[in-house]
Amino acid sequence: MNLSVMSRIVLGRKYFSESKDEKEIVTLEEFQEMLDELFLLNGVLNAGDWMPWIGFMDLQGYVKRMKALCKKFNRFHDHVLEEHRGRMKADGERFVAKDMVDLLLQLADDPSLEVKLDSDGVKGFIQDLIAGGTDTAATTVEWAMSELIKRPDLIKKATEELDRVIGKERWVHETDFSNLPFIDSILKETMRLHPVAVLLAPHLALEDCQVAGYDITKGTTVFINSWSIGRDSSIWVDPESFRPERFLGRDIDVKGQNFELLPFGSGRRMCPGYSLGLKMMRSLLANMLHGFNWNLSETTRDEDINMEELYGLSTQRKFRSNKGYPIKNLLELKLNSNQHDNIYARPLTSLSPSSPFILHETHCDQSRGLRPTKPKKAMEKRSQTGAASCAGF
Ligand code: HEM
Repeated sequence: MNLSVMSRIVLGRKYFSESKDEKEIVTLEEFQEMLDELFLLNGVLNAGDWMPWIGFMDLQGYVKRMKALCKKFNRFHDHVLEEHRGRMKADGERFVAKDMVDLLLQLADDPSLEVKLDSDGVKGFIQDLIAGGTDTAATTVEWAMSELIKRPDLIKKATEELDRVIGKERWVHETDFSNLPFIDSILKETMRLHPVAVLLAPHLALEDCQVAGYDITKGTTVFINSWSIGRDSSIWVDPESFRPERFLGRDIDVKGQNFELLPFGSGRRMCPGYSLGLKMMRSLLANMLHGFNWNLSETTRDEDINMEELYGLSTQRKFRSNKGYPIKNLLELKLNSNQHDNIYARPLTSLSPSSPFILHETHCDQSRGLRPTKPKKAMEKRSQTGAASCAGF
């Protein structure tokens, strides 16, 4: 879902095919693989960067992989830019920008810009926006569901709120968010314990300052460990426990002003997509809880849900049970709504293919557009290596 939303906002439409009938420049699986590789390579420690004299040997093979990936992205971006430029040309005076690429191309053509934007710059922006907005939200929601599935009491509390505010006849809309404080608290608690970016993007001290008694000189590169802040017992009571209630009635937001909770960073380098990210996560989480019953299968115990993290550019789950097998949950449609199929399908298809939340086939209602998701090779590979987030752009 996130990839589709981001593609529509940035590119105007999705440029990947999801079925054999669609003929696009890449398939969804290929595109996801490219993004996974991008995040993986962004986060690796390349020996040649630290010991430049051995760089030419490319001992780990990362540079070779980067070059191969660059070719793939270039081909994709060239195709997107060509199509957009074609429309710009055809529409002439009547041209109206419809997406981010249109706007970026207009900027690139603007001779009055102080800092010129060339086509590599446009490609870089496209890449940042697509990659930054896709896996971050999905990863956070997967962490939230992993925590919740172990705590039926929290699921009950959340669904009570949803039933009270929304009723049982419709899905959750954006306008409902302000009336769903418990859902909001679940997200905050998830981002406290499992921030997508453990280390925020490097920040630079613009002037001499003092933080917690330490002198920071102007020009110092500062790394902020949001993971440690979230688990600091001097800030949080019982920091290792998942307790969304701690946020109820407290004025702590995630917009970079409360330094104890910085899932989107703060200051000039703060995530520019935080508002969109919050909307995507709220609607995904709220609708998954509102529309479906979530239960562990009879053979799965709480402790089978492995909460181990894979450190990479982002903090992913390993998606494996402690025994090394994926966990299957029973997921059952409960909402009594006749709204469009895509709304039914949305919460399910948005889960990454390797997610443990695999729709149990016996509960699939194909007539309503629900489909069981199957783990795919690309995602299995990612779950072993870790990857993906915004930090590091
Ligand atoms: C749940 C969703 C998201 C999370 C948790 C998240 C998290 C972050 C974090 C922690 C940073 C680094 C901030 C800092 O160092 O102060 C960041 C940067 C960034 N994010 Fe996000 N992000 C999310 C969604 C998005 C979306 C939807 C977009 C695009 C529309 C986006 C685009 C970016 C970009 C371009 C940067 C780099 C900004 C810069 O370095 O100047 N992010 N994000």
